[in-house]
Amino acid sequence: MRKPFIAGNWKMYKTPKESLAFLDAFLPLVEGHTRDEIALFPTTTSLSAVIDGLHGSNVRGGAQNMHWLNEGPYTGQTSPTMLVSIGCRHVILGHSEQRLYFNETYERVNLKLKAAINHGITPIVCVGELLAEREDQKTEEVLRTQLRAALRNISPSEARRLIIAYEPIWAIGTGSTASPEIAAQAHAILRHELTHCCGEATADNTRILYGGSVKPENINELMAQEQIDGVLVGGASLVPTTFANIVQYT
Ligand code: PGA
Repeated sequence: MRKPFIAGNWKMYKTPKESLAFLDAFLPLVEGHTRDEIALFPTTTSLSAVIDGLHGSNVRGGAQNMHWLNEGPYTGQTSPTMLVSIGCRHVILGHSEQRLYFNETYERVNLKLKAAINHGITPIVCVGELLAEREDQKTEEVLRTQLRAALRNISPSEARRLIIAYEPIWAIGTGSTASPEIAAQAHAILRHELTHCCGEATADNTRILYGGSVKPENINELMAQEQIDGVLVGGASLVPTTFANIVQYT
C-alpha cells in the first residue's frame, strides 16, 4: 500500500509571519486527517518557524533544496546536517525551476539524493519533460534518462524512502494540467524504469506524485488514477482553504 502524499511547494513566497498565519488557518482544516501524508515546503527563511509551528500536528515541513556536503565554503547553500538540526526530514530535489534557472543537473541531484538518504531525509526527486520534448515524442526517453541519472549507484534498500514527482515542465504554473491519462502514462514509464533500477519491490512501494497546475478542480480525477500516489502543488498550496480542499479530495 502506498500512502498518498500531498505536498505544498511554496517556492519563493511567504515570510515567516505569513507562513505562520497560513498554519493558523490551515491546520484546523486538516486536523485528524490521516488518509494522506501532508507536507509543506516553505522557503529557507521560513522553514524553521514552520517546522516548529507544525510540531504535534499531522503535517510535516520540508526544504526546497539542499547541498550534498555537511559544510564548506559554498555561499548561499544549506547542508543536510543543517536541515536535520532544525527537525527537517523532507527535501525536494531537482525541481525544474532549479534545473531551468539555476543550472541544476541530475549528477548533482544524484549526490544530493545520496546525502539525503545518508541523513535520514526523505527526498522528493522531480523529473519531467519540456513541451518540445513531448511534441517530439521524446517523453519516455527523457523521463527514463532523468530517473536513471538521479538514481545512479543507489541500492534498492537506499531507494526505500524515495518519493518521485512527475512534473511536466509545460504544466508548471501554466494552468494547463496534464490530463489524468497523460500523467498516468508517465507514471507507468517511471515505475517501469524504477523496477529496472531498484527491483520490483522498491518500485511497487515508491510513491510517484504528479505536479503541475494541480487545483481543487482537477484533484479528484488525478487521484482517481491508480498510478498517481499524491501531488506536488505549487500555486494552489499558498491559500489555506484551497490547499485544504486539495487534501480532502474524494
Ligand atoms: P504549480 O507548481 O502547481 O504552480 O504548477 C507545481 C510545482 O512547481 O511543484
